[in-house]
Amino acid sequence: MADASQTRDAWGSRIGLILAMAGNAVGLGNFLRFPVQAAENGGGSFMVPYFIALLLLGIPLMWVEWGIGRHGGRYGKGHVPGMLAALWRHPAAKYLGVMGMAIPIIVLIYYTYIESWSLAYAVFSISGTFQDRSPDEMASFLADYQSGGALAIGFFVVTLAINVWVISKGIEHGIERLAKIGMPVLFLFAVVLAGVVLFALTAQPGAGGATAADGLEFIYSPDFSLLGSPSVWLAAAGQIFFTLSVGMGTLSAYASYLKKDDDLLLSGLATSATNETAEVVLGGTIAIPAAVAFFGVTGAVAIAGEGAFNLGFVTMPIVFQSLPLGAFLGFMWFGLLFFAGITSSVAMATPLIAFFREEFGARREPVAWALGGLVLAAGLLHVALLDRGFLDEWDYWAGTFGLALFALVEVVLFMWVFKPENAWRELHEGADIRLPRVFKLVLTYVTPAYLGLLFLWWAVADAVPILAMEQTPNGTPYAPEDVPVVLLSRGVMVLLLVVGAVLVRVAWKRNGYDDRAGLPLVDDPALSRQAREAAEVGAPAVPPAPALEVS
Ligand code: TRP
Repeated sequence: MADASQTRDAWGSRIGLILAMAGNAVGLGNFLRFPVQAAENGGGSFMVPYFIALLLLGIPLMWVEWGIGRHGGRYGKGHVPGMLAALWRHPAAKYLGVMGMAIPIIVLIYYTYIESWSLAYAVFSISGTFQDRSPDEMASFLADYQSGGALAIGFFVVTLAINVWVISKGIEHGIERLAKIGMPVLFLFAVVLAGVVLFALTAQPGAGGATAADGLEFIYSPDFSLLGSPSVWLAAAGQIFFTLSVGMGTLSAYASYLKKDDDLLLSGLATSATNETAEVVLGGTIAIPAAVAFFGVTGAVAIAGEGAFNLGFVTMPIVFQSLPLGAFLGFMWFGLLFFAGITSSVAMATPLIAFFREEFGARREPVAWALGGLVLAAGLLHVALLDRGFLDEWDYWAGTFGLALFALVEVVLFMWVFKPENAWRELHEGADIRLPRVFKLVLTYVTPAYLGLLFLWWAVADAVPILAMEQTPNGTPYAPEDVPVVLLSRGVMVLLLVVGAVLVRVAWKRNGYDDRAGLPLVDDPALSRQAREAAEVGAPAVPPAPALEVS
């Protein structure tokens, strides 16, 4: 049996929970991926399907993930295989859940590597390394850095160590504390940088003959001309998944540390709103307008077309260097990316840590360090094979396709297998707001149908040609010499999924779970937070006197 002496973690405060959830969602996706996606998909024409996807997919799925998570928490499960088993008494449930453990680990591996670049670049910026470098020099600096020297590996190890340290402190003392520091700093940096871009780069046209205002116009004036193109709709939905962290089980993992009657609708909405502010208002105001001011709209679009990294790691330092206090502005930009990244990467590790603690009675620290070792080992493959398309495969299969697939599984299990009435009741349990009835229809029909349609489109138009190696995720042909790298890249992902499935099987056998009978409820709803905290610090858990129960 899992170690019964371990009590479940819990969040320390509501504000801490919201900040941690927002930290989970706000990430590199908001500041690097969003501007590139918006620019590549026509700016204003991207924003229309983007907001539709936010309303019909993103926010509903956010609630579904919270609902699945808090429900699973009542069964003592902070990992997706357990949560799905709590929802559906069928042997397949736990195996479907393996995706919700393997995908976050796959994304974690390449995500922390990119996170480590921002740490390195923050240090380089403040120490004046980028002074007076031309665009070409900046580009070759990035290429040198990425080619995997001691420096890149060193920063990767440091980044991993910081992540492991935070994770090993637990939910309240690690993740929540990180969010309470990291999120305000991140917002402060972002607001300052957005202000700098608006005021310093709007006054007079830059080299491209354009100003930051032209960049804002490019993104924000709605344009309906590209709405007939499926790829714009796919890109918009993909960005919504990635940026809100839905379709991966990391939000569910966080929500499992809620109490049975903690609010979830308002908090989920607040999380989505915070993420969208960070993305559309701040993320949208920094990178694209700055690039447009320097290189014009066409120049900025061309840069975005070269990938998320050129815009963030080549163009932005050039822009900031040209301004007064440039070294400091550059430091703020990369510092912002680092905080955005680390509050997300610790979330990706959470389901796996919960799995080993809950199912194997492991202690948090050794699991965290072992995970760090795994990420380092697999991450070194990314370091070595970055320019051969290794990372692109992971980002596509796990970070794009996998999210849509898993989101579909989640919404079907929660709304259909668990039944709409149960789901609706579950979502409203302890809620601070009531949803208009129409959302029940959205959750039951619109979201799954929309998702199913997108998913089919995706599979046929995108995934099959990529799988067959007719085109890379970027639309270019695969170079013949890269084929072994691509196969290795996919092989490692499959291996992680298989290992996950085996571990789940072993755990279920070991703990004697009976799929048909369902998992045992462990959370006594009467257990108050005080009793839980007393148990956390090692005092014997006293059953709370019923008289103390205020509800
Ligand atoms: N949302 C984060 C970002 O915008 C990344 C992230 C964290 C994520 N957890 C996730 C993406 C789960 C998909 C699924 O960078």
